[in-house]
Amino acid sequence: MISIEGLTKIFSTTTKNRITAVDDLTLDIKEGEIFGVIGYSGAGKSTFVRLVNRLEEPSAGKVVIDNQDITTLNSNQLRLTRQEIGMIFQHFNLLWSRTVKDNIAFPLEISGVPKREREERVGELIKLVGLAGRENAYPSQLSGGQKQRVGIARALANRPKVLLCDEATSALDPETTNAILDLLVDINEKLGLTIILITHEMHVIRKICNQVAVMEEGRIVEQGDVLDVFLHPKQRVTKKFVEQVMGTEGEHNGVEELVNMYESGKIVRLHFVGESANQALISHVARSFNIDINILQGKITQMQQGAYGTLFVQIDGHTDEIERAITYITDETSVEVEVVRNVE
Ligand SMILES: Nc1ncnc2c1ncn2[C@@H]1O[C@H](COP(=O)(O)OP(=O)(O)O)[C@@H](O)[C@H]1O
Ligand SMILES: [Mg+2]
Repeated sequence: MISIEGLTKIFSTTTKNRITAVDDLTLDIKEGEIFGVIGYSGAGKSTFVRLVNRLEEPSAGKVVIDNQDITTLNSNQLRLTRQEIGMIFQHFNLLWSRTVKDNIAFPLEISGVPKREREERVGELIKLVGLAGRENAYPSQLSGGQKQRVGIARALANRPKVLLCDEATSALDPETTNAILDLLVDINEKLGLTIILITHEMHVIRKICNQVAVMEEGRIVEQGDVLDVFLHPKQRVTKKFVEQVMGTEGEHNGVEELVNMYESGKIVRLHFVGESANQALISHVARSFNIDINILQGKITQMQQGAYGTLFVQIDGHTDEIERAITYITDETSVEVEVVRNVE
């Protein structure tokens, strides 16, 4: 649906000083996907997303949305096409002197929608984003989450096919972030909207994205299915992002000390790669076999596709029973088992 080819943006700050903010970027985004782009500050994420709706003019390359090359449009054509691309921002960019409903109506006024139709559409949008009762409030009277809901409603007013989100949750607390991410998933499903989501936070990617691209110095250094990238991060920068949510390998090293506290049984590393319920699995195994399972350490993270992460456990009981339990986990679940140590 969105096809980006050789996209490049060079800023000339002085005659001598040139910054390549986006460097020969090639990317395909499918219809209905929530596509995440992650990178540290200065990686070129905002520039990239502003090139997609041509808030920035590219130095080279193409952006094709629904078979239409955005980069060749004249300003009239561009104005129409922009209605199909909504955008939300970290700091909301609301009109402070307008009420909630007038903020949402603003893009409809610009595109010449008659008043009655506008009011009807604003009513629908207010409901969709969960702002009923706040129609006549001013932005200054709203919480951060509510402000972003206004931003989302306004971005959706002209029924876009694509929604660009530039750090849309970065100014929000964790709970509000989750609520806004849930709303994005909801509109993605209800409206079949394609979403490009820019962030520097891996938990945001983990929670709602299907695909992720990692940006560094204007380039995409790694890209793929979110689960694949979590399981097999290749680049240093990607590993650092995965560590944000998974904890570091260093934490796992500390397991040695814990292991030494046990005088019997087996120390086992359970590697979850998308199993649906980790808690349930462990209690099920402990109940089904005559063994005790102690969770020593580890970090499991819940992703859209299931649980992912590592748990170190100590399994105590008769050797045969432990073997049977391990065989069961290996054969009947997607969890990978590695015996770290036999405690004799
Ligand atoms: N208008 C501009 N003029 C000059 N340099 C810019 C401009 N916008 C961004 N840059 C530079 O381009 C690089 C990428 O910036 P940006 O796209 O904002 O990154 P990110 O959103 O990942 O933090 C940075 O080095 C930044 O300083
Ligand atoms: Mg940015």
